Amino acid sequence: MRMRHLVAVLVVGLVAMGAVAQENLANYRTVPLPERIDGIKNSNFRLTDACLVNYPTGNREMERNAAMLSGYIEELTGMHLSTRPTVNPKDRTGNISLLIDSKLENSEGYSITVTAKGVEIAGRTAAGVFYGIQTLRKSLPIGKTNFVLMPSAQVAASPRFVYRGMHLDCSRHFFPVSTVKHYIDMLALHGMNKLHWHLTDDQGWRVEIKKYPRLAEVGGWRSGTTLGHNSPVNDGIRYGGYYTQEEIRDIVRYAAERYITIIPEIDMPGHMLGALAAYPELGCTGGPYDVWGMWGVADDILCLGKDHTLQFVKDVLDEVMQLFPGEYIHIGGDESPRVRWQACPLCQQRIRDLGITSKGKQSAEALLQGWFTTEIQNYLSQHGRRIIGWDELLGCDVESSATIMSWRGAEPGAEGATLGHDVIMTPVGPLYFDYYQTSSTWNEPTAFGGCNTLKKVYDFEPVAEDLPADARHHILGAQANVWTEYITCEPQIDYQVLPRMAALAELQWLPADLKDYQDFKARLPRLVEIYKYYGWTYRAKSLVQDDEEKEK
Ligand code: ACM
Ligand code: ZN
Repeated sequence: MRMRHLVAVLVVGLVAMGAVAQENLANYRTVPLPERIDGIKNSNFRLTDACLVNYPTGNREMERNAAMLSGYIEELTGMHLSTRPTVNPKDRTGNISLLIDSKLENSEGYSITVTAKGVEIAGRTAAGVFYGIQTLRKSLPIGKTNFVLMPSAQVAASPRFVYRGMHLDCSRHFFPVSTVKHYIDMLALHGMNKLHWHLTDDQGWRVEIKKYPRLAEVGGWRSGTTLGHNSPVNDGIRYGGYYTQEEIRDIVRYAAERYITIIPEIDMPGHMLGALAAYPELGCTGGPYDVWGMWGVADDILCLGKDHTLQFVKDVLDEVMQLFPGEYIHIGGDESPRVRWQACPLCQQRIRDLGITSKGKQSAEALLQGWFTTEIQNYLSQHGRRIIGWDELLGCDVESSATIMSWRGAEPGAEGATLGHDVIMTPVGPLYFDYYQTSSTWNEPTAFGGCNTLKKVYDFEPVAEDLPADARHHILGAQANVWTEYITCEPQIDYQVLPRMAALAELQWLPADLKDYQDFKARLPRLVEIYKYYGWTYRAKSLVQDDEEKEK
């Protein structure tokens, strides 16, 4: 039925087009594909620079949305459309109008109605309208023109998942504010709403904390970086940087204007050498420690036997909460070796004081991490926040109100959802975008390993078929992770994520039964035209049939 609608609207467009060149026609078959595209009748709306972009008078968010749409149209077609506050429905004739429609069900859904008389983009919220704007943006032909014909149609979509994310590691390599904003721009184009920002790790602490200035000043810098995959050769070049609080506020605002919430990650109790180098008293041995120039998992982690460590973490989180207004704070929890705790008299004393004993497969030290996580969870909860942690937390007896990120495969996600945790699916296969995108790696930029092709990403299903019915709603969505051990600059980030991000966007938005890889591949080149317009690097080979697909 839906396919027939798609065909119908194309035919309508072609008939109405007459002598109009294909390049002047809008095409709503974008990525992600809108859930519904229904042709209305045999007509077109003629978009020219005489059209206005209307928005409801007095609505600041919609005013900003209107300005964004006008900006996109100008970038892609050269036509400048003015924006106008309006309350009069008659003003809609001949124009594009942005509307809030409380009858729409999904808070992020949108509908676009195109008739010969005008274009309406409606959402239940301004966020929904923004997603409609992105679809209109992607449906435009690219290139200077003085008109675009928009085939009459009713276009509508609402996202399948509430959590549609991408992650960016700014610790292993540090990227300037402009690159983070560029990354946010890419998320916006793809209809995503969460940026998971990995800000601290063994290789560098990247967020200014006023109460502990050495975190950034000392913990933000390493004396050199290993070459290749942890070779014994170190480049010996001092490397680092951090974001000031002012810069972070600016980035958070920039993201919010694009309906993207930033989830900061302060990884604890492991991956903490940046902090330990700055404040060695936070470790079990007391140091000295260095900000690490190698990749991997370090044995030195926070000492949980000292009250001071807990106070430190709470102080840091106080400032983090001031900077990031979103509900979620990511507290890491992955890859925390317990060798130091096993040998540390203070950690062992803490275990005794708490009456912790090992339970089945869970060691006393694993449960110590669970205790610590719950302390932090309670602290954040007192401030109205919730935690997300990596799936190792499932082995630490944490409370089911902790949201779990399933990264060591999809199985921990299924386990977490069954135990009552909310879950975000981000399994290494296929959602680690720092992995190769082909098995033929000889001419690829150095990557972590693995092989996550475009097709594997597209085919990923976040909700396992055998997940019990009462656990399915716990799968909040999916996210791709971009760890940057081997990614040093913006074009390399882009190369790793484009076009895989397009495949991820489609699975985040489109109901699974409407997904079709060949159809996606046919629509992708038009999205890539937008990448090209903005000068974004992408893996062109993924647009043609690659080795992995031929094998199938
Ligand atoms: C992870 O990749 N260590 C979460
Ligand atoms: Zn200790």
